[in-house]
This record gives sequence, C-alpha cells and structure tokens, in this order.
Amino acid sequence: MELAQTPRARSLSVLVVDDNDVDVDVTTENLHAAWPGPVRVTRARDGAEAARSLERETFDVCLLDYHLGAESGIDVLRAARARGTDIPVVMLTADADHDVDVAASAAGADDYLDKCRSSPVILERAIRYAMSHRRGVRELREQNLELARVNLELERLDREKNVLLGMAAHDLRNPIGIVQSYAELLATSPELAGTEAAEILETMRRSCAHMTAMIDDLLDVSTIASGTLLLERRPCDLAEVVRGVVAQHTAMADAKKIVLELTCLPVPPVRIDPARFEQVMANLIANALKYSHAGTRVIVRVAPRGEDRVLVSVSDQGIGIAAEFLPRLFRPFERAQRAGTSGEKSTGLGLAIAQRVVEAHGGTIEVSSRSGEGSTFTVVLPVGGDADRVALSP
Ligand SMILES: Nc1ncnc2c1ncn2[C@@H]1O[C@H](COP(=O)(O)OP(=O)(O)OP(=O)(O)O)[C@@H](O)[C@H]1O
Ligand SMILES: [Mg+2]
Repeated sequence: MELAQTPRARSLSVLVVDDNDVDVDVTTENLHAAWPGPVRVTRARDGAEAARSLERETFDVCLLDYHLGAESGIDVLRAARARGTDIPVVMLTADADHDVDVAASAAGADDYLDKCRSSPVILERAIRYAMSHRRGVRELREQNLELARVNLELERLDREKNVLLGMAAHDLRNPIGIVQSYAELLATSPELAGTEAAEILETMRRSCAHMTAMIDDLLDVSTIASGTLLLERRPCDLAEVVRGVVAQHTAMADAKKIVLELTCLPVPPVRIDPARFEQVMANLIANALKYSHAGTRVIVRVAPRGEDRVLVSVSDQGIGIAAEFLPRLFRPFERAQRAGTSGEKSTGLGLAIAQRVVEAHGGTIEVSSRSGEGSTFTVVLPVGGDADRVALSP
C-alpha cells in the first residue's frame, strides 16, 4: 500500500482569525513548534478583515476563533462558505461546548479545537484532519456534480427513447392497416385469380418485412444506447421506392373508392434511407386517402425540380386544411388533427415524423391547401451523394 503524502512535508500558510493578541501568539508558537516545514501566519482581527485576506490570497488552512468580539466565528464561517470559500477551517474556542462544536460543523468547519487543551501536537493533528476532511468534501461535491450530470443525460435519453417508441408505434400502424385490408380482401373475394392473389400476398409479405425491419431498428443495441435512430442513406431510384408505397395503398384506396395514381418523370438517383422514406410517403398517402371522399383522386408525382433537386408530391381533392391550421401542421399532436372521412383515427404525429425524416435527408416538406378543395404535400430532396449514415435525433 502506498502511503499518502502528508502535508507535514511542505510549507504551510495559515490564516488566523482571532481578536485576542495573546491567543494569536500562542497559536503561532504552537504552529511553528508542530510544523516541521516553514509556516507563514497571516492574521485577521474580524470577519471583514478575514474576508479581504481570503479574497486576496490562498491559504492552506484557516484557524477561526469562535468569539470574535461582537461577532460569532460561526456567522463569519457561514458567510464565507456562502461566498464559496472552500478552505479547510478549524474552529477554535476557549470554552469547549458540544453545541458550539455541532453548530460549527453545520456551518462548514472541518474540525473543532478547545484552545485550553491545545498543544503543538494536537493543533498539527487538527490541521491535518481538517485538510483531509475538506479534500473529502470537495471529492464528494465533484462526485455529486458528476452524478447530477449523468442523471440529466439519462433523463434526456429516456425522453428521446419515448419519442422514438412513439414514432415507431405510430408508423407500425400503416403497414398493419395495409395487411389488414388485404387480408379482408382475400377473405371476402374467393374469386380472385391466382396471379392477383399472389400479388396481394406479396404486398402483405413486404408490409410484414417492413414492420420487422422497424422493430429490428428499434431493438438495435446502438439505438437503445444512444437514443438515436440512424438513417442509412444510399443512392436510390426514388420512383421505384414511391411506386412500392403506392402499390401498398391501392387496397385502402379501393376500399374508399378513391383513385390512386402515380406519375413519374425520369429523375436522377437521390440519397435516401429507403425504409424511412417509405414511412414518409406512407404517412402522406395515408393522409390523402384518410381525408378524401369516395369518387375523388389522389395523385402522387415524382419529377425533377430544377437542376439538382427532385420532388415528390401527393395531391388530393379532399376536405383540405383551414388556413389557420397550416402554420401548425407539422407540430406533433397539434389540435389541427381531425378524424378521417370514414372515421379513421388521428393522433397528429404523422406529419411531424415525416418532416423530421425529410429534414434529416437535407430536404424540405411543404403544404398548399384550401379548405374544401384539397391539399398538396410536396417533398423536395437534393440529388446525388454517396452512401452514409446520419442520426435522426428525436
Ligand atoms: N391530406 C390532408 N387533407 C386534409 N387534412 C390533412 C391532410 N393531411 C394532414 N391533414 C391535417 O393535418 C393533421 C395532422 O396530420 P398528421 O398526419 O400529422 O396526423 P393525423 O393524420 O391526424 O394522425 P396520424 O398520427 O395517425 O398520422 C391531420 O389531423 C389533419 O387535420
Ligand atoms: Mg396522418
């Protein structure tokens, strides 16, 4: 075991706060007798003088008298600690009293010494003890600060995980709805020919694969540890991704007697996380279907926008959005939320998630809408870029 280096090996600077000249002389003598290294004594007669000295220079220890004329050493100490003075303090008193001892340590004294019983050996020991006690107090304070910091970080991760969970639960609803509507179609249409049934089963299989991927993402150890979803972006054929999502929603459109169309102009590859971007498109298309009546059309368009961007838009002829709701549309759980035309549920999360994902792709999402006439949501993405990973922080 390594022996800790004792402060005896070095010089000592002491602030003696005492109004009694004789006492100061005795204390100074004891200090010189007990401490083998050089001792420098600075004297203060009262609290104000002590405060000035403490402000001006640093001391190894403060020997503080309990009776400072009209002042109490305890008040002086309390005020000094309140100002952030972190020096080891030994409280000295001529009339040893248990209550004073307790009050002194509550005020921040590191040790307490009865002047009458003091000797060089006892004083030296008290100083050493006070220094080591103060070191312990400082370490404890630092550990507490570190604990508070870790706690804050844990609370942040916990909040972010809740948001991620909420997002995943929300986005699982779409593929479940798709599987459900196709399953109903299969169950109620025994006349469906082999190829058609095979296509439906394939769409159901893809929806299930999508859900599994989402759950895998969520259970991914790094997601759990960091509270952050990673987008795995790579150059993709946007039209193909959008076509897949449109196909998944045809049963839903058919059930509401809405025509769902896709028009694609040739566009250069864009860097997206296909699974995440499918969620964005699913949210927009599901909204268009949800807020439209039978006999209307929903048109999904993929087209270039200028030289270096690509747009995807979803237009409907549905109920539209009142002008006053437009500025708040992308905020989570906004009051703009309304049930769908067939009573579909509404949590008001879809657009908030879509915006976050689109922005993590370096893109924008905008809406134009008129109440009663329909809405168009437009996503614009930059073209090009190599495969990479970016965080989708909640
Ligand atoms: N195509 C649309 N036509 C009319 N209103 C829309 C359309 N898309 C969104 N809205 C309005 O914006 C609100 C927010 O949409 P958002 O997708 O964020 O949530 P939601 O559809 O209500 O619920 P969910 O969380 O299930 O998606 C909706 O409640 C609705 O009032
Ligand atoms: Mg929605």
